Amino acid sequence: MRRKFRKILVTGGAGFIGSAFVRLAVKKGFLPIIVDKLTYAGDLARLKEVSGKFKFYKIDICDKSRLETLFTREKPDAIIHFAAESHVDRSIKDATPFIEANIRGTQVLLDIALKHKIKRFVHISTDEVYGDIEKGKFSEESPLKPNSPYAVSKAAGDLLVKAYVRTFNFPALIVRASNNYGPWQYPEKFIPRAILTVLKNKKIPVYGKGLNVREWLYVEDCALGIWQILERGKIGEVYNLGSGYEEKNIQIAEKILGVMGRCSEGIEFVKDRPGHDIRYSLSVEKILKQTGWRAQTSLDAGLSMTVDWCINNKQWLFGKWEEINKLYK
Ligand SMILES: NC(=O)c1ccc[n+]([C@@H]2O[C@H](COP(=O)([O-])OP(=O)(O)OC[C@H]3O[C@@H](n4cnc5c(N)ncnc54)[C@H](O)[C@@H]3O)[C@@H](O)[C@H]2O)c1
Repeated sequence: MRRKFRKILVTGGAGFIGSAFVRLAVKKGFLPIIVDKLTYAGDLARLKEVSGKFKFYKIDICDKSRLETLFTREKPDAIIHFAAESHVDRSIKDATPFIEANIRGTQVLLDIALKHKIKRFVHISTDEVYGDIEKGKFSEESPLKPNSPYAVSKAAGDLLVKAYVRTFNFPALIVRASNNYGPWQYPEKFIPRAILTVLKNKKIPVYGKGLNVREWLYVEDCALGIWQILERGKIGEVYNLGSGYEEKNIQIAEKILGVMGRCSEGIEFVKDRPGHDIRYSLSVEKILKQTGWRAQTSLDAGLSMTVDWCINNKQWLFGKWEEINKLYK
């Protein structure tokens, strides 16, 4: 089949979701170009199974002159923009890196992409830009009402992208994904942190009463959805990407204990996150109608694969334990 794009550039390709997308792009026969600053969250180990099948540039997306040199040399025609500071709790401690990477970094990248006449720019955003919802689902038309500094920085990125579409006819699309989980997720995030904690024979910390609801999307399903949007999405449009698998945090913790063969005494309720969003939920009618994509992995199957992966990659996970304890002390 004739390819729509010659060269794909992936920002944040050493991160959790970006690396899943790079592995998929390699499977599809591409030689992706990765731009990543390798912050604490970036790790090339995530790409060892596709080693030699991508090009890597350690560049901060805020560094306009190094990006300019890279674009002149590589001439990418599609960009998938994952690079971001991604952890809500860190944004509550210090919002500065979030404003810098997620807003200024996005603007710098947009300017370079515009100048180099990129054919397609897929901006990866989050369901958190809509704020929370007690009943019903967010559609792509729902207003942006972000609550955490992280969510605000992502919403600002979305608005910048929309402004470039409108002002410059820039060929961008926006993807708003729900909570991802799966292999290689940094264990500051709820699911891998819970598994790591159990592996360390400690109780799973659960915020408040554990009643907050998230919609859990297996990372490989997310990568496939983004691929569909890259190939078949309409320029200027926003696409929600959710799984329909909604669960309270307490139930996720109990499921993990079940899969790992531990009992429910292994949970510890801790002081709630300030401003904690109660529930996210996405309507995925649009992507389903336009591309036929829907999540393939059930929550139970995904959790079980994630637990297996964590057990088989204990060393990588255990290497983050001290850093996680510092973050949550
Ligand atoms: N994880 C989720 O559940 C989720 C859900 C919806 C949307 N998203 C969005 O998807 C994207 C990827 O999320 P993730 O979970 O893979 O994040 P991650 O934290 O695992 O990875 C982020 C990557 O970006 C890189 N990076 C950070 N700042 C950079 C900069 N200034 N220049 C270049 N590289 C930089 C990091 O080194 C890392 O490799 C983010 O934009 C995030 O907002 C994530």
